[in-house]
Amino acid sequence: MHSIHSIKRADQIQGELGYLSGFLNEFATEALPGALPVGQNSPQRAPYGLYAEQLSGTAFTAPRAHNRRSWVYRIRPAAMHKPFTEIEQSRWLSRFDDVPAPPNQMRWDPLPMPAAPTDFVDGMVTMGGNGSPDGQRGCGIHLYAANKSMDGRFFYNADGELLIVPQDGRLRLATEFGVMDAEPYEIAVVPRGVRFRVTLLDGTARGYVCENYGALLRLPDLGPIGSNGLANPRDFLTPVAAYEDVEGDFELVAKFGGELWRADIGHSPLDVVAWHGNYAPYKYDLRHFNTIGSISFDHPDPSIFLVLQSQSNTPGVDDIDFVIFPPRWLAMENSFRPPWFHRNIASEFMGLIHGVYDAKAEGFVPGGASLHNCMSGHGPDADTFEKASAADTSKPHKVDATMAFMFETPAVIRPTRFALETKQLQDNYYTCWQGLKKHFNPNQK
Ligand SMILES: [Fe+2]
Repeated sequence: MHSIHSIKRADQIQGELGYLSGFLNEFATEALPGALPVGQNSPQRAPYGLYAEQLSGTAFTAPRAHNRRSWVYRIRPAAMHKPFTEIEQSRWLSRFDDVPAPPNQMRWDPLPMPAAPTDFVDGMVTMGGNGSPDGQRGCGIHLYAANKSMDGRFFYNADGELLIVPQDGRLRLATEFGVMDAEPYEIAVVPRGVRFRVTLLDGTARGYVCENYGALLRLPDLGPIGSNGLANPRDFLTPVAAYEDVEGDFELVAKFGGELWRADIGHSPLDVVAWHGNYAPYKYDLRHFNTIGSISFDHPDPSIFLVLQSQSNTPGVDDIDFVIFPPRWLAMENSFRPPWFHRNIASEFMGLIHGVYDAKAEGFVPGGASLHNCMSGHGPDADTFEKASAADTSKPHKVDATMAFMFETPAVIRPTRFALETKQLQDNYYTCWQGLKKHFNPNQK
C-alpha cells in the first residue's frame, strides 16, 4: 500500500487520506493496520469485528480482464437501512421519449446558481440521453449547479457509474472507499452502487455528469500509438481507505430504475475500514493528457482525443466516448486547422470547462453546452472559418488556456423537455453559420 500527496482531513473521517495510483489495479488499502484479512476474502470472523461484503461491478463470470469487484470490510453491512420510498421529482430523468428530438444544432448558456439551498443531488438536471438503466445500455447527460453540501445525506446510483466533470468549484467526494477531491480540470468517476457524500469546498459548484448505464468506462487500446500516450494509467488516482464511525438520523438516497428513492439510515454508510479489489472510485487530471495530433497535414478525427470509453458489443463502436480538446500545438501545414465541417453517425454533447473552443469565436462559454445530434451538420462558425482559411500555416500555433470536452454516443442523444424549454437554450445558435460566404467560382481553381 502506498499513498501519494495527502489531502486535508474531512470531518469525522478516520484514517490517512491520500491516493493510490493506477487504473483498474488490484488495490489493497486499510485505515487500521491488519483490517484486511490475509489469504482469504471472508474469514469466519473478520478483523476488528468488521463485516465482509463484496461489491461487484461486472458479472461474476466476466473474463478476468473485464472482471471488476472489490471486497469491503465495514462496520455494518450495506443491507442495514429502512425501506425506500420514491422521491417525487422531475429533474433527474432516465426516460428520453417525453418530447420529440429536433435535428437542430443546439447550444445552452450555463445554468444559473439555484436561489434556494440545493445540494449536489438536488442540483442535478438532465439535459438528454439514450438507452435505459434497466437495459444497462446508454447514458444520461446532466448538468449540476449546487450551493449546499450534502448534510446527513448519502447517495448511490444503481443505474450507472457517474463521470463527473467539475467546471466551477471543488467537490469533496467522501465515498465508501475513501475521500477524493475533484477540482475543475479533473474528472471523477464514482462506480455504480458506491455510496458517497458531496461537500462543496468553495461554497458553490457547477459542472457536467455523464451517467453511464452500460459497460464500465475503461482506457482505450492505443494501437499504433504504442504503449504510452493519451491518458496514462499512472495518472489515475483512487482514494485510500478511510471511514466514519458515526450514528444519527441520516438519509440514504438511491437512484434506481430511473427514479430517486430515499430511506432512513441510522449510521454513516461510509464505514468501510479496509478494502481490496479493482472496483473503486477514481479521478484523473485532464492536464496530464498526452495529446497526439498531426505533424504533417490535415486534422485527425477527434477520436485521437479519447480519454475513456464504454465499449459496446460491436467491435470498434463505443456506447460512450469521453473526449477532450485540451491545450495543444497545431502544426499542420496547408491545412484547415480548426475542426472541419462534418456530419456524424454519432451524436455529440459538448461542454466547456475553461477558455474558448477553437471552432467557435463566441457564444460557447465555460459552463455552457452544445448538442449536435446524428447527421446534424456543424463545424466552425463563419468568423472562425474566415480566420482559419487565411491563417499562415507555415508556422505552428498554440491553442492555449482551453479545455473543452465531448460525451459522444452512437445512439441519438434525445434532449429532455427541460433542455428544450429552458431559457438557457440559445435560439439564435443557427446564425453562427448563416454568415458563411459563397466563395465558389467555376472559373478560378
Ligand atoms: Fe462534431
